[in-house]
Amino acid sequence: MTQDSAHDLAHIKRVVVSAKQLAQAEGADLFIVVPAAWLHDLVNLPKNHPDRHLASAMAANEAAHFLQGLGYLDKALDAVKHSITAHSYSASVAPETIEAKVVQDADRLDAIGAIGIARCMMVGGQLGRKLYQTLDPFCEGREPDDAMYTVDHFYNKLLGLGDSFQTQAGRDEANHRTRFMKTFLDQLRSEIL
Ligand code: NI
Repeated sequence: MTQDSAHDLAHIKRVVVSAKQLAQAEGADLFIVVPAAWLHDLVNLPKNHPDRHLASAMAANEAAHFLQGLGYLDKALDAVKHSITAHSYSASVAPETIEAKVVQDADRLDAIGAIGIARCMMVGGQLGRKLYQTLDPFCEGREPDDAMYTVDHFYNKLLGLGDSFQTQAGRDEANHRTRFMKTFLDQLRSEIL
């Protein structure tokens, strides 16, 4: 497996930190949220893998197997499994519990704000993309194309992610981080245009 800078151990630790904060704000059960956050990317397949939509369910099964060995009971195992399965976009499983909503929000927070900007730049660099399109860097008169330009990813995805959050605490933090990304883009504009 190639090392994926977007899903390394540091990502997992940030998701655990955010998940704990959101769980406390939302009254979610830490006994479910914390193991689900630690284990949510236990199986992670590349974006172009045909079984990608099954990865979070595979992670959920492996996590349940591991937690069963620690003495977790069936009801808690089911709750952790649902939280892990539903966290991923590609699984198309709606989060039904507050614990699953918290884990999904915590994972999505890691794509936005200062850490989101940094991850976006790292991935763009790894894939050899240009930083921005020189004639229209901020996609004002063209469709964003993030396969070509790293800054376009803000317009393809990152600035809209805030609308997908499930909990009030997650939405509040997502709005804060989205404002920060807009400030970053304003500053970038003042430096390059
Ligand atoms: Ni993740």
